[in-house]
Amino acid sequence: MQAFPRLALARLPTPLEALPRLGANLGVALFVKRDDDTGLGMGGNKLRKLEFLLGEAQAQGADVVLTVGALQSNHARQTAAACARLGLACELILRRPRQADDSYLRNGNVLLDRLLGARLIIIDASESREAAMAERAAQLQAEGRRPYCIPVGGSCPVGNLGYVHCARELLADCRQAGIDEAVVIVPTGSGGTQAGLVAGLHVLGSSMSVIGIAVEGTRAEQEAAVFAQAQATAQLLGAPPLSRERVVVRDEFVGPGYAKPTEAMREALALAARSEALVLDPVYTGKAMAGLIGLVRAGELPSAAAAIFVHTGGAPGLFAFPGVISV
Ligand SMILES: Cc1ncc(COP(=O)(O)O)c(C=O)c1O
Repeated sequence: MQAFPRLALARLPTPLEALPRLGANLGVALFVKRDDDTGLGMGGNKLRKLEFLLGEAQAQGADVVLTVGALQSNHARQTAAACARLGLACELILRRPRQADDSYLRNGNVLLDRLLGARLIIIDASESREAAMAERAAQLQAEGRRPYCIPVGGSCPVGNLGYVHCARELLADCRQAGIDEAVVIVPTGSGGTQAGLVAGLHVLGSSMSVIGIAVEGTRAEQEAAVFAQAQATAQLLGAPPLSRERVVVRDEFVGPGYAKPTEAMREALALAARSEALVLDPVYTGKAMAGLIGLVRAGELPSAAAAIFVHTGGAPGLFAFPGVISV
């Protein structure tokens, strides 16, 4: 693989752990890839992407890093953590939802962003995050600073390389655990995590399948976005084009919308915590686990295959949703 500047930020490789009690409950051989356990700033999937993105930022001589997200963005919090570790200034453009209670506005990732020393620029629900970031970057440039802008979720070919490497880890994990056939289940938001995995498996010549569980958007929108990202990532690596069929996203578990709770998510959160002490979050991994459970119960996963759930983190966001579990 061609060398791209990469920093060591995440604790890698992450463990692949068996989930025997939850697996027995569902009737499937179930494993979890602990990408929530990547260390820095309470961990999560974005640290893998940030190793490459901030490697590029440093190579370009950046002195301030900007990114965008929802108010409770885990990506923004991990960017703040990585910048703190590197001694880089960090500015987060975060979009407030139309309605939010005090916990959502001040607790969880927002509290951590402030603790980690990031500058928060909070914009209204109607404003464009990308326009706000471009405007702020231009201001900084005019002041003689060297900003580096990271797109939403760190999803772009350079960032997605983090998940190309995760694909390599997963194949090694499967060899070690004696798993011959597996389906990988991953939450899909901005799409780079799934795209990096798909591109990585393609580049490494593996036919292992990946199912993205959308946390926003429709199947058609998400499959188009993930396919475009995966293709661009494979292209960056000089790999041949990948086939469209490799990108599968399910959208039945989104519910009323991004970050809006569903009953299936609440059940998944409680089941994972009470059977395996696996703490999921309401926005991403709770809905992805609801997807895994739903697909297994509907008999939609190949019966001979193990299910590998990629725990992408997000539990710090739980504290912004204190009412999510009522019993
Ligand atoms: C905890 C968690 N899981 C999954 C995702 C989705 O990853 P991606 O945006 O690469 O699709 C995110 C993105 O913010 C996240 O914070």
